[in-house]
Amino acid sequence: MKMDTRVFADIDALSRAALDEVLCAMDDAVKQRGRFAIALSGGRTPAKLYQLWAESDHRNARTPWDRVHLFWGDERYVPRMDLLSNYRMTREALIAHVPIPEGNCHAMPGPDDFATPEAAAEGYESELREFFGPGAPAFDIQLLGLGIEGHTASLFPGAPALEEKERWVMAIEAPVRPPQRLTLTPVVLNQGRNTLFLAAGADKREILSALRAESESRPSQYPAGRIRPAGRVLWFVDEAALG
Ligand code: 6PG
Repeated sequence: MKMDTRVFADIDALSRAALDEVLCAMDDAVKQRGRFAIALSGGRTPAKLYQLWAESDHRNARTPWDRVHLFWGDERYVPRMDLLSNYRMTREALIAHVPIPEGNCHAMPGPDDFATPEAAAEGYESELREFFGPGAPAFDIQLLGLGIEGHTASLFPGAPALEEKERWVMAIEAPVRPPQRLTLTPVVLNQGRNTLFLAAGADKREILSALRAESESRPSQYPAGRIRPAGRVLWFVDEAALG
């Protein structure tokens, strides 16, 4: 699969370069549309980028936080301050350190908000419709990670959500802990203006090599390869992941 890949010595250099891309897209979005909507990814890899964003903002206050809206590409169906929550990770790395209005942090709901993951998914879809209007949202930036078996967001191999054509958000059962999750579907992820995949560490070597070896002539067997937005797709990888 053709992948516009940027290779970096380590997670620090990768995160700095990815943050530069985020801030450039932010400048363009605020200039053109008066606001910047980013879908954040969870897991371990993006934490450094979020920390650097907070540190750089502390130094140069470049980010117009009143114009920035944070969304999530997926979330575990756990209480917001649970150690497994992607929101909690982002709050600790970024949100708690910058002057972003609370109303601009559009966390995916959990058991604190809705009794079931299905109701939470419907609730988040309503929040997206309220913000973006009726057409499938086009995030200015969508950050996506890569699981060792090729998942991205919480779209896992063979999942029905991969074939979804209507819903923007779905509740899914993941084959990893915790199993109950919410995820944006390809209906939304394939609209992204700028998609940044972040993959770091030797444990991603095999899946990255498999994705790069795939033919363009047929659909990818991995969810990360099935996200084919009309907008730019950049892969930020470190040397350990590239092997
Ligand atoms: C999640 C993430 C998930 C993640 C990949 C990679 O909720 O876990 O959104 O899609 O991006 O699993 O995770 P690491 O960055 O921890 O390797």
